[in-house]
Amino acid sequence: MVKAVVLGAAGGIGQPLSLLLKTNPLISELALYDIVNTPGVAADLSHIATPAKVQGFLPPDDGLKKALTGADIVVIPAGVPRKPGMTRLGIAFRDDLFKINAGIVRDLATGIATTAPKAFVLVISNPVNSTVPIVAEVFKKNGVFDPKRIFGVTTLDVVRASTFVSEILGDFSLAPSIKIPVVGGHSGVTIIPLLSQSSHPLPSSLKQDALDALVYRIQFGGDEVVKAKDGAGSATLSMAYAGAEFAEKILRAVKGEKGIVAPTYVHLSADKAGGDAIKKEIGKDLDFFSAPVELGPDGVVKINSLGKVTEYEQKLIQAALPDLATNIEKGSSFIDAPK
Ligand code: NAI
Repeated sequence: MVKAVVLGAAGGIGQPLSLLLKTNPLISELALYDIVNTPGVAADLSHIATPAKVQGFLPPDDGLKKALTGADIVVIPAGVPRKPGMTRLGIAFRDDLFKINAGIVRDLATGIATTAPKAFVLVISNPVNSTVPIVAEVFKKNGVFDPKRIFGVTTLDVVRASTFVSEILGDFSLAPSIKIPVVGGHSGVTIIPLLSQSSHPLPSSLKQDALDALVYRIQFGGDEVVKAKDGAGSATLSMAYAGAEFAEKILRAVKGEKGIVAPTYVHLSADKAGGDAIKKEIGKDLDFFSAPVELGPDGVVKINSLGKVTEYEQKLIQAALPDLATNIEKGSSFIDAPK
């Protein structure tokens, strides 16, 4: 029996993600929580002929607590997405958005820490580089921090890398089988695709500017969607797909399947030896980093090495580190920051 919970289930990501989780036969109970509309979403999904029993919860009458009671896995897509031109709107606006999402994630994490501290927590709410440290701090404050169970979902970067490389190889049918480790963090230059390790090598004729363009597209692919949606939000459907894929990996690992490895943003103490090796490889003592992680019944089994990286990729890593360090600090200090 597996109970999955979606926090922010009525949103652009939350609804299709809940649909995909409802169709996952590994899930027997699905609780949907949001500040609006979950009774309707739950009623709708509950007519689908798959095993999961679906229930919707709202804040009144301890809805969050009821949704989380007995949870095995909690996925968090709650928050406010960015809008077109946000970078141009300036730092004050970005900071406001950060504070809103950070506050939402802090409160939801408090609910998980007090009601379902052993659940696997999958954080989708942006900025992931900072919201995952917030969850970690909340769990520490509640004395229930287990770094093996808290994950930043970076799967969309991995999915995009596979898709965009299949385009370059001129064969979309390859996309599902193309495996590329994407490491670092989950925004802009902190997203580092290790294309030299692609299961399907890039054409040797690919010029440097085409490689630069591919890396940029993986790092800033979200902008394509924000622009095309023209004010109606950011990536939701591809994110729901990616979130469901990562959740499925966790659930399969919990069931005992061995050898499941996925890039994900974790606290590097989740596997001390592996985490220390990463710090050495990148040359910086960061607490969080996205690396290929082997999953097992208790979450993180092993943080794998980044492997052989090219000089070009080493430069991408070095370019990511200052932003990543700032993002981590911003998240870690949020709980104690003056209001
Ligand atoms: P949305 O606005 O469509 O949905 C967000 C949902 O969260 C809404 O239904 C809202 O009512 C709910 N919500 C707000 N406060 C809440 C609270 N305190 N408790 C529970 N639910 C609450 O936004 P969308 O497009 O679904 O994006 C959600 C988040 O996911 C954003 O932070 C966005 O930046 C992030 N995102 C992350 C990606 C990733 O790769 N990790 C990719 C795309 C978006």
